[in-house]
Amino acid sequence: MEKVMIFGGRGFIAGHLKTIYPDAILPEIDICDAVALTDILEKEKPSVVINAAGKTGKPNVDWCEDHKLETVLSNVQGPLNLLDACTRRSIYWVHIGSGCTYEGDNDGKGYAETDLPNFTGSFYARTKLWIDQILKDFPVLQLRLRMPFDGSLHSRNLITKLRRYEKILDQQNSITYLPDFLVAANILIAKRKTGIYNIVNPGTISPYQIMMRYREIVDSKHLVERLTLDRLCDVVKAGRSNCMLSCEKLLLEGVHMKPVEEAMDEALKALL
Ligand SMILES: NC(=O)c1ccc[n+]([C@@H]2O[C@H](COP(=O)([O-])OP(=O)(O)OC[C@H]3O[C@@H](n4cnc5c(N)ncnc54)[C@H](OP(=O)(O)O)[C@@H]3O)[C@@H](O)[C@H]2O)c1
Repeated sequence: MEKVMIFGGRGFIAGHLKTIYPDAILPEIDICDAVALTDILEKEKPSVVINAAGKTGKPNVDWCEDHKLETVLSNVQGPLNLLDACTRRSIYWVHIGSGCTYEGDNDGKGYAETDLPNFTGSFYARTKLWIDQILKDFPVLQLRLRMPFDGSLHSRNLITKLRRYEKILDQQNSITYLPDFLVAANILIAKRKTGIYNIVNPGTISPYQIMMRYREIVDSKHLVERLTLDRLCDVVKAGRSNCMLSCEKLLLEGVHMKPVEEAMDEALKALL
């Protein structure tokens, strides 16, 4: 029997992980507190630890620009504590990473896990990049997500976020459909895989295209104004990564995620 422990248990991604690990232990501790971390691992002796804790910024990553210490502690120091505590106890562990550390499409190929991150335009992205590059030298499974979405009204669902914005960026991006992410995570964890995996649906789409589709499927009266990259700085404080990630490595594990358009339509129809 797996004994799974999830940190960041109140968060959006953890909420999804709980559906595949309904018996998971969800300690309400600060992962920056190395003593509390050690105590809970000693007490519960989990076979799998998943780190879904981190500062993502609310209402968005601009928050991290003004809260750098909280952000670097939770996104770098906390995972380093987990690395130390889990390694000393030979506990297999998984870190939820981000693909927001890349910019561009790598000449249409998408960035592979072996490509060095090239986006440093926000403090949040830099913290995700730092820990990603430290952990890659250790036997940790890193699952990189991009703009996660589902068919719910959750405030952190990409579709819900886009619905709140008047101006929507028209730049192509890789995105992650959370039901597909769960299938991938389950398979990789069961195989005790380590290293970095991009967990994105094949293909790309722009936020503007998503909201045009939203108008077709959900609400034809919803107003959408197109925003181009050169005007993005008018509406945000920190830079935003726009990138395409390769999912070739995931395919080699036999994990087939739905094409982006199919996944998006499924999520939008769930909103009806
Ligand atoms: N959502 C995305 O767009 C996205 C994309 C790619 C990767 N990710 C990564 O996925 C992970 C989870 O993100 P999410 O979307 O689920 O964010 P979320 O909904 O904000 O959940 C993160 C949870 O972690 C908690 N937390 C923060 N610092 C902590 C600490 N030091 N110790 C214990 N818990 C702590 C947060 O509590 P507070 O709210 O009190 O801070 C929150 O409950 C993060 O590492 C994030 O970088 C997210």
